[in-house]
Amino acid sequence: MKIHPSILSADFANLEAELATISGADAAHLDVMDNHFVPNLTFGLPIVSRLFAVSKLPLDVHLMIEDPDRWAPSFAEVGCDSVTFHLEAAKDPIGLARRIRDIGSKAAIAIKPNTPFSEVEQLLGEIDMLLVMTVEPGFGGQKLIPETVSKVVAAKAALRANGLSVAIQVDGGVTESNIAQLADAGADVFVAGSAVFNAENRNLEIVKLRELAHSH
Ligand code: DX5
Ligand code: ZN
Repeated sequence: MKIHPSILSADFANLEAELATISGADAAHLDVMDNHFVPNLTFGLPIVSRLFAVSKLPLDVHLMIEDPDRWAPSFAEVGCDSVTFHLEAAKDPIGLARRIRDIGSKAAIAIKPNTPFSEVEQLLGEIDMLLVMTVEPGFGGQKLIPETVSKVVAAKAALRANGLSVAIQVDGGVTESNIAQLADAGADVFVAGSAVFNAENRNLEIVKLRELAHSH
């Protein structure tokens, strides 16, 4: 059970210091948004590259951008542990996942709440992680959309049936009150932005979330 806090809810003026406050996390989740694929704009490659230089945590980059076929490999090249691109945006998802893996990063595919699991099912053999978005991508602090949880269940069943070891990540609205249910459904990597960054003691919150995920 892994907890990846999203720095979308961190203080963007002090990112190095903010990363130090989540030292107990398994990785830092970096939301790259281009104001085209999603209606919000965050940061891109130069900042991710600098964060890699100062971070003690592995970096899990979530690309909410158009044309990941062009940009995603560069995020692998700067040292991100995993590079996640959206199925809805990729022209050649298999080719892109292979390029990311060839560079040495884990490759992951994300699906938005309205994208059925069946659209990604045939690609599971090509990736290290599947990201099931549990909110519409773009903003932190939203409520989890309950209907998305059945996709986690379907993904887990498909992985088991095919003997594949692919992590299932959930992202959006993950809190103390729903993380056990998500773990029960089959998720094993949990992104939590506001739940961690708004907590008084962030590392304590990470421990609490991990324990709740384990206790399902
Ligand atoms: C939303 C991002 C998430 C977001 C999660 O588009 O992909 O990573 O930061 O934030 P919370 O946990 O606050 O929903
Ligand atoms: Zn994200």
